[in-house]
Amino acid sequence: MQELPNEGIRLDFAQGRTTITDLAEINSTLHPIGFRAWPIDLTAASEALRPLLARPTLTDADVAMVRDHFLLSQEQLLTLIAEAGRTPQVPGGGEMTTLDATNGVTYPQLYLVEAGVDYSRFDRFHVNSSAEGPGTDEFMQILSGGGIRVLQHLPGEGEFTVTFDCVGDERGWMVTYDGGRPHIGSFTGAETGTKILVQVMGPPSWEMHYVDG
Ligand SMILES: [Fe+2]
Repeated sequence: MQELPNEGIRLDFAQGRTTITDLAEINSTLHPIGFRAWPIDLTAASEALRPLLARPTLTDADVAMVRDHFLLSQEQLLTLIAEAGRTPQVPGGGEMTTLDATNGVTYPQLYLVEAGVDYSRFDRFHVNSSAEGPGTDEFMQILSGGGIRVLQHLPGEGEFTVTFDCVGDERGWMVTYDGGRPHIGSFTGAETGTKILVQVMGPPSWEMHYVDG
């Protein structure tokens, strides 16, 4: 396993600041809004699992195997939220299985980026929140491929983009952010076959609200 994960992640600002590629610097820069990324050591996965990550398509059984291997427990997610400097949107974390009522999608969800599929619904700034008020805590594990982008706004600095690329078949990425803040998690431009495990914790049901910007 590589030592310093300064490869495969990049923070670009829409204006002003220069690009940052050092993970520790990216995390300290984005800490004020509770954004944080960690490398995932993919070499720790079993010999049975690793070839699945490299495949462009998966059977339903393969999807379940990959998903179940990488799913994090609520305790683990709460630890990541704390490291990111947030408090959970719902006290105690809320539900581990939640419904995007706007799109009829249940999380957790393993996405496999396919050629020719339109993922543009993710490409506008939105907040995910419930009618009762609380928003979501969102977690993405990028397990193969790359070109996944997360966009948010940093107060005083404006819009930024963090781009994630897996490093070979050895290192993936975990990222968490506050789904109650405007964000984009874009698959448009991701390599075909990219696999992203998304966990959305919080209210049992929530809607996607587009916001300007
Ligand atoms: Fe979202």
